[in-house]
Parts: sequence; structure tokens; C-alpha cells
Amino acid sequence: MNASVESMIHVSDELVFNLSNDSISYIFRVSPEGILEHIHFGSRVAPSSGLSAEPRRAFRCTVLEYQGVKNYNLDDTPQEYPLFGTSDMRHPALHLINAQGNTTNILLYKSHRISSDKPALNGLPSSRGGDSQTLVVCLVDTVSKLEVELNYTVYREHDVIARSSSIKNVGENAVCLKTAMSSALDLPQGDYELVHFRGSWAREFEQERMPMPHGRFAIESARGTSSNAHNPFLAVMNKGTDEQYGDVYATALMYSGNFAITAEKNEFESVRICAGINPFNFQWKLESGESFSTPESLQVFSAAGLGGMSQVWHAFIKQHVSPSQFKDVPRPTYLNSWEAAYFDVSHEVVLGLADQAKEMGAQMLVLDDGWFAGRNDDTTSLGDWFSDEKKFPQGVEETARQVKEKGLKFGLWFEPEMVNKESQLYRDHPEWLIQVPERTLSTGRGQNVLDLSRSDVVEYLFERVDSFLSSGLIDYVKWDINRVFSECGSLQLPAERQLEQPHRYMLGLYELVERITSKYPNVLFENCASGGNRFDLGMLRFMSQGWVSDMCDPVGRLSIINGASHLFPLSVLASYIGPVPNHQNGRVTSVKMRKEVGFFAAARGLSLNEDDLSADKKELQDAVALYNETAHDMVSGEFHRLRFTKNEVCWQLISQDKQRVYVGYYHILSSPNLPYRRIKLAGLAADETYRMVSTGATYGGDALTSLGIDLPHVDVVLHQQHSDNSDYMDEGDFSSRLMVFERV
Ligand code: DGJ
Repeated sequence: MNASVESMIHVSDELVFNLSNDSISYIFRVSPEGILEHIHFGSRVAPSSGLSAEPRRAFRCTVLEYQGVKNYNLDDTPQEYPLFGTSDMRHPALHLINAQGNTTNILLYKSHRISSDKPALNGLPSSRGGDSQTLVVCLVDTVSKLEVELNYTVYREHDVIARSSSIKNVGENAVCLKTAMSSALDLPQGDYELVHFRGSWAREFEQERMPMPHGRFAIESARGTSSNAHNPFLAVMNKGTDEQYGDVYATALMYSGNFAITAEKNEFESVRICAGINPFNFQWKLESGESFSTPESLQVFSAAGLGGMSQVWHAFIKQHVSPSQFKDVPRPTYLNSWEAAYFDVSHEVVLGLADQAKEMGAQMLVLDDGWFAGRNDDTTSLGDWFSDEKKFPQGVEETARQVKEKGLKFGLWFEPEMVNKESQLYRDHPEWLIQVPERTLSTGRGQNVLDLSRSDVVEYLFERVDSFLSSGLIDYVKWDINRVFSECGSLQLPAERQLEQPHRYMLGLYELVERITSKYPNVLFENCASGGNRFDLGMLRFMSQGWVSDMCDPVGRLSIINGASHLFPLSVLASYIGPVPNHQNGRVTSVKMRKEVGFFAAARGLSLNEDDLSADKKELQDAVALYNETAHDMVSGEFHRLRFTKNEVCWQLISQDKQRVYVGYYHILSSPNLPYRRIKLAGLAADETYRMVSTGATYGGDALTSLGIDLPHVDVVLHQQHSDNSDYMDEGDFSSRLMVFERV
């Protein structure tokens, strides 16, 4: 670190650790006994300020005192990496069966070090360092013979603390990890609410908000992928927090497998948030001398409500998580073959679609499922990553070459982690499946999961995907996975390590995607899992964008984009205009509505067949032209949620240079006599003037942000009586309006 740059980490003689940037602080200390006590996470408190509030010790009739220390009860002491077994009855960050066979472990401070190089995590993705400093605190248990390192990274420009831990067995005998969380955060007593995102296939990222209950609330996955049931993200906030006001403490995991984020409120009303690998169905044997690294947990504090929190996540993900080579790079508009042709693809079909794509003004043709050996429906062929000789007699590479000759980019779909029993791969290697002996394996979409905890499987998949990418003809890869895991086990692991298989799978997967994506840095990778069944920071550390949902109906997508945007910037979101009636929910909507909802994603395109394309040719050409013109703003701009109710949504994007502002307003079901709506725009320069493109009217940035704009009115009766419709939404259900402002 440059000596003239002020350090963000201060350690006092009394061992109070203060990690601060200009707006937030994370503070903890070492107690006289050696316990790491948490003091503060929130708005900045200067190291010189003095601790006006700290963990307390008082006589209070508790039934336990820590190791005989008078009035010291860990159950009511905020800690950094709590354990079970002495006086803390809550769920711990670390729980292990030591060599003596018990679970009473005590970690005490030993030493610390500060580094300006953010250490990489062993085999796991982590955010990039940049202008950051990392504090490593070493703790020891001299009885259980453990050494634990806690990593804390503080960023100068981002209100984020990145955390992880590593646990080392320094004894002579093996120990058994039961719980090894990445982070624990003990918040002071308060009146909190929780927000998290739950869902299922085609309805990912539904927001759920609730008061923090007494007891323990958990979001988790035990199904192999981080899953669409619960995204690995939890925000705890002061009661009443809204988009602009309120303190928010948010946690997101950089992990794509079985995770848990829990919030526990105990009898003393302190709230503990733990995040990491799901302890349920997890166990890890740590031999003498071995270490175990946990995934990275990212903690954000915002004093400016959920909107402020999202701004922190968006900037951080763009700068420190997403692959840097695609940062602010406009995404190509595309035509995807899936809802145009499903499995019915061939060299001729693809070239035909490429011509259509050209005519529409799109920049890339994506060949989705159906192109490899014998794949005519979803019952066969996964694993056999060779071109289907009937459909592509000269190989997919030749088709790619001809598509590119037309001036388009070429994209290809893979589902590498899966296998159908109807495949050569399965016939050759039945032992490569995730499996437990003597049980029938459950299928999902007729397929099974390859055991990526095995290096031979990882090697095979690398070789197969590499064999296509090495042609240099593939510009984009959609990496899909279409089932979750069951009967988890590996034929290669001994009995006592079977419960390690899901995490070992993740290590194999990360190795595979790391090798592929780093060998082909200029290929744009899109993460997909039947839509958003593995939409997390772990995969998005390697892949620049993600297919957030299979739901392509614009009404169905509103809540998905709104929910996902709490954590993810538009730069990582992909969407396309699909056919009507919509294939997921049967709804019929206008091209306008589909275009204007699909607008709010960086990677945009179409998935329509020739008939669909010719039926709405002009409107679709206009949509693609709009997507092309605004591609840079979508990938680099700043997104704000302005309004979200069951029936109305309003979003805004302001370009990075603050020159252009896009406001999308969506009204789902029409009704007579509705109230007027006014909305205040966000992030505009107060002393600049903006012109509304559709009307030519000009307004000051101060007026647009403080007075706001009147949204087009939904009123069918009035609408019919007026010749000038600019003040009104389109008649009927499912209407939308995209308003554009340009700085004068
Ligand atoms: C699921 C994906 O979400 C779809 O977009 C499509 O790629 C299919 N898989 C192909 O099987």
C-alpha cells in the first residue's frame, strides 16, 4: 500500500480493531479472556472516537458464566466467530467434534496481520481486492488443537466487508467439522425486519418481508445448487426501512451450492446472522495438518434504505465480482433458438434464424439446446458433447463459421454437469454419476448429475467444452443446469467422507469454470439453471451475465427483475422477447410491453420463430434498434426502483455520464378512476436541464428529483375522449410506457 494513503485498519494497544472507510466502520475487540467481541457494524465511527457503547457485563441472574468468569455470559455477548459448548446457547459459527469426541471448543486471540493484497481462497471464488485492506485474525484452541483464521477485507470505495474463515487441524488426530460458517454478525438489540427472496421455477426472486421473530429463521438449500427457492441473500433492517431511509445490514454469499443464512433472536433479543455452507447434511473430516476454507460472505451496510443498499451491491459487483474484461462492455443483441425452434434445430434452421436475426438488426445468433449427438428431446444425449451428425453434418463449428460470415456473433448452449442414461457417456462411465449404492436414482427432467467431485469427470468436461471453444468461432456460451441433486454421494469417496460430496462438487465445478473461462477470456459466458436456480455471486464471479428466469412473460418478469435488482446490477441480467401466448403462463401481451420490460437488462434479444418475427417485424426491428442504441447505458448505468406494488412498477436507469435517463412505468390490470401517480426521479444532476424526448419539454434536474413527474394516467374513459394520448397509458390491461430524458 502507498504510504501516503491512509490505512483503513486501525488496531489500538488494547486490541480494538477498527476497519473504516469514509462511510462505514466494522469494529471488534479482544476481551480480557481472549474472546473476539463484536462492537459495531454501521455508519463510520473514527478510531479516535472512543467506544461509547460496548459489550456489557452485569449481574443479571443468568444461569451460566463463561468458564467461571463472573458476570460474563457469552449468550448475551456479541462475538465475531462464536462457538457452542461453554455459555453461548445459540447456533455457532463453528461446530466440530474434536479429537476427544466432544464439541466444546474455545477460540482465543493469538495474533493478527494486515495486508493490502486480498488473499485468494483455496479453490473458491472471492471478490477482487483493488483498493482494499485485509485483516487476518488468528485464533487458537490449545485443547482441541485448532487454528482458525478470520479474514476481513474493507474497501475504500465500497461499503462492503468481505469475510471468510479457514480452520486448521494442528493436532495429531482427525476432527470432524459439522458447521463451518463464513461469517457471524451479532447485531445489538433492536426492532428489526427481514427481507429475502424466495421462489421456484419461472417465479424466482419473489420478495418476502417480515418482522424478525424470536427463534431462528433460516433460508437455505440442501439441493446442490444455491437454488431458486431461496437466493443466498438476506437483509436485516430497522423496522420501517424503505427504499431511501433506514439502516440495512445485508449479507450475500459467494457460493453456488448448499448454503444457509440464518437470523437468530434469543431471549436477550440480540440478533445473530450466520452465513455459510449449510450445516444440514454436511460433514468434513479434517485430518492432522489439513485446513478447510469457507466460501466468502459479503456484508453491506447502508444507512440509506434498500435503494442505498442496492447501489452499494451494484457498484461492488460490477467492480469486484463480475469478470473485469466485460465491465461496461455493451452486450450483443441476439436471437436465441430455444423458443423459436426448441430441439428442432439443424444447420439449415440455424442459418435461417441467422438471416432473420440480421434482418431484425440483432448482433448474435445463439444456438440453444438440441445440437449435440442424438438430442431430439430432453430424454437423451446429455454428456455426449459432439455435434449431431444428422443435424449438423459438417459440425456445429461449420455452422458457426457460416453464421459469422453473415456478420453475426455465434453463441452455443451447454449443460456440462448433466448426463442422460440414454447416452454414450453413461454407457461408458456409469460410475461418474452422483449416487449412493443400492438406491434407485431419482431423475429430474429425465437426467442425472455427474459427480464433479471427481477429477476425471472435471477433466472430461473441460476437454469437451474446450474442443468447441478452441475453434475460435464461439463468442458466447450459455452454461445451463436443469435439475437439483438427490441421492448425493460419490463412488470415489470413503464412507466417512460421503457428506463431503456436495461441497467437493462445488470445488470441482469452480475448478472447471475457472479453467474454461480463464482460457477463453473473450468469450461471454451466461450462467443459467432452468433460469435462476443457481443465480449467485459464485457463478457470476466467472460469468458476466445470467439468465435470471425462464419466465418471459413481461408481467411475470416484473417481480423477478425487481427482486433480483436488490442485489444484482442490470449488467448481469439477460432477457429476451418471447412469443405470445407466452409459453410459461399463456398470457398475451403487446410487443411494446414485452420490449419495455425486457429493456431493463443488459443482455437483450429475441427468441421467436420466423412467423412470429414476420408478424411483428417493424415493431421488433424497432425494439432491437432501441436495445442496440442503449446497450452501453444498460450495462454501465445506475438502476433505481421507484415504485413496486402488485399492480404498478416504475424503474429508472440513469446513464453513467448522467446524460440520459430511462423511466419504465408498467401497469398490470386496468381499472377506472384510479389516483394520479407522481414519481421522483433519482440520481440526476440538480443544476442540469433535461429534455423529455417524446414531448420536447425541458425540466431542471432539481425539479425532476424533488417535484417529480406525473406518470401517464390509467383511465380508459378519459383516454377515449382525448385525441392527445401522451398523458395516458395504453388502454386495457398490461400497459407500459418508456420515458426517455436527455440532458440538454
Ligand atoms: C433451460 C433454460 O433456462 C432455457 O433457457 C433453455 O436453455 C433450456 N434449458 C434448454 O434445455
